[in-house]
Amino acid sequence: MDLATRYMGLQLKNPLVASASPLTGEPDSLRRLEDAGAAALILPSLFQEEIEAETARYEHLTSVHDDSWPEGLSNFPKLADAQHGPHEYLELVRRARQAVEVPVIASLNGVSNEGWTSYAKQLEQAGANGLELNIYFIPADLAATGRDVEQRYLDILKSVRATVSIPVAIKLSPYFSSVGNMAMALHDAGADALVLFNRFYQPDIDPSRLQVLTDLKLSDPSEIRLPLLWLAVLAGRTRASLAASTGVNSAEEVVKYLLVGADVVMTTSSLLRQGPGHMTTLLTGLEKWLDARGFTSLKHVRGIMSQRCLRDPQAFERANYIKILQGYQAPAMKAGGLRSIVR
Ligand SMILES: Cc1cc2nc3c(=O)[nH]c(=O)nc-3n(C[C@H](O)[C@H](O)[C@H](O)COP(=O)(O)O)c2cc1C
Repeated sequence: MDLATRYMGLQLKNPLVASASPLTGEPDSLRRLEDAGAAALILPSLFQEEIEAETARYEHLTSVHDDSWPEGLSNFPKLADAQHGPHEYLELVRRARQAVEVPVIASLNGVSNEGWTSYAKQLEQAGANGLELNIYFIPADLAATGRDVEQRYLDILKSVRATVSIPVAIKLSPYFSSVGNMAMALHDAGADALVLFNRFYQPDIDPSRLQVLTDLKLSDPSEIRLPLLWLAVLAGRTRASLAASTGVNSAEEVVKYLLVGADVVMTTSSLLRQGPGHMTTLLTGLEKWLDARGFTSLKHVRGIMSQRCLRDPQAFERANYIKILQGYQAPAMKAGGLRSIVR
């Protein structure tokens, strides 16, 4: 069975990728993921705040000497040249590269374009095969326009792109007014791949204790529908690679994402729930599905249910929405109970 795929210019043996999480933050579990079949690994993010905190510590150190020991200043390298960033992360990139053969993609997570993006160069030098950018930004400033938010994404991407020559992916928000147009703009600005989608951790509240709850819920398969829709719309219409992310629990979700046109399928929640060995279950399930239908290569199925390939492209648009709403029958309505009230 030929499961090979290309993602952000990297040749992968199959389309299964472990997305960023604590599981990808240890050489041991990276090795276990690779052994179980993962074709690429995304390291947990290095956060803008971590880089800035380290830079501030460095500046404090140098300014202390500035006052008390002026001639000592020359002993410090200039900030731009210094290896002053979070050393643990660079060390993780190096150790990950040594631990596994499959591509290792580092992840940078930030919200503004203010100097920290140059850190991408050090990740490249440490051996990262690619870079994933996660711009986790909640536009709570009510004066910020949609255009401002889009520009922020583009500016961060452009400044990272200018720093490195390895491929760059961007983990996209689903909350743009025109997701498709934004995806195209990000590709034009240098994104080699688009990850659909970033999963925003929305807080809940506890009404009895009047507290905001910030617990983390792992995803479930009902969440694949939004990425599925946009992958289906974008497949075959952008030259950027497409990664499906969110909601994979079994091989069924993997197959669905590939059918609408994903080049790779990422998973975190299923691995955190079931352990790195779950990669093998996903991979075997995909192979079985293809085999049972006589497909010998992934290429034969990828994108065959994308909007461009469907006989009825309206299936992904408004016409289908109207049909669904008008055709809906709740169990209680079928029994005749609600029908009279609704009409
Ligand atoms: C515990 C945990 C830690 C995560 N850490 C990161 C991270 O550091 N950077 C990042 O971009 N995404 C991070 N994610 C998000 C995942 O990479 C992924 O996008 C998200 O969980 C949706 O995929 P899933 O439905 O397969 O879980 C994390 C998710 C979890 C559950």
